[in-house]
Amino acid sequence: MRRKRNSQRVTQSRNEHLDRVQMEEILSDIQSHERVQEMKQYIQHGRITTYEHCDRVAHLSYRINQKLHLHANDRELLTAAMLHDFYLYDWHNYDDNAHPWHGYHHADKAVENARLHFHINPRVEKAIWSHMWPLNITRVPRTREAWILCLADKIVSVKETLTERK
Ligand SMILES: [Fe+2]
Ligand SMILES: [Fe+2]
Repeated sequence: MRRKRNSQRVTQSRNEHLDRVQMEEILSDIQSHERVQEMKQYIQHGRITTYEHCDRVAHLSYRINQKLHLHANDRELLTAAMLHDFYLYDWHNYDDNAHPWHGYHHADKAVENARLHFHINPRVEKAIWSHMWPLNITRVPRTREAWILCLADKIVSVKETLTERK
């Protein structure tokens, strides 16, 4: 039977678990999209591009889910993690004041772009939308996937900021 590779399909199982090969397939489906590749042009922290950052967050999210047996849906988790910073601009460039309050608003832009280019479900949208909690104090993560993404993003961001400066 042909393996389902489409990361955009609506998930049937609430607790879908993927092995490492399936995990990499899901990620490569998303990462092969030309607009996702565009994230390689933008710096997230230090010398790390937004693409590398999202890839790291996706892998760490998967590991947290596996190691801690949290029973989150891997497909939704990987999709949300790879697209959580899919805002597609350089947030360091404040010269034209194009992106003030980046920390507060970039999750909205990431959701907008993810909806435009992928058929994501509302749970994935919500996970992306809430990933900046507690900076966005009212956007409390509500699902396992959202909590794992929020945690993995914090861990990766701190590490990149402290140890991978330019
Ligand atoms: Fe973010
Ligand atoms: Fe992030």
